Amino acid sequence: MAFVVTDNCIKCKFTDCVDVCPVDCFHEGPEFLVIDPDECIDCTLCEPECPANAIFAEDEVPDDQKMFIDLNAQLSKDWPVITEVKPPLADADEWNGKLNKYNLISQTK
Ligand code: SF4
Ligand code: F3S
Repeated sequence: MAFVVTDNCIKCKFTDCVDVCPVDCFHEGPEFLVIDPDECIDCTLCEPECPANAIFAEDEVPDDQKMFIDLNAQLSKDWPVITEVKPPLADADEWNGKLNKYNLISQTK
């Protein structure tokens, strides 16, 4: 199992999660982060750190966001590792909590 970044990270990218991951398994794309499931050790540390509540254990991902399980696995192969916290995206607080931001992703592969 692994942890999964889901819809509410999109357009926010608060990056608090990156600070606590002991194995550097977060990868950064233009609008959100993903977790490499092959690297994640299920330590659970990142989940409570996300101000957007966007991180779930794989078996707790909401039904309407199951596609993010494969998306994290795919995109983590292409996107660079991020290891340091950086400022969130502009207007992150406004985007936090908006639903169905999936269509705003510019790169799905
Ligand atoms: Fe990293 Fe732990 Fe979160 Fe997995 S559960 S992404 S190892 S902080
Ligand atoms: Fe995204 Fe939450 Fe991390 S918004 S960048 S998963 S702290």
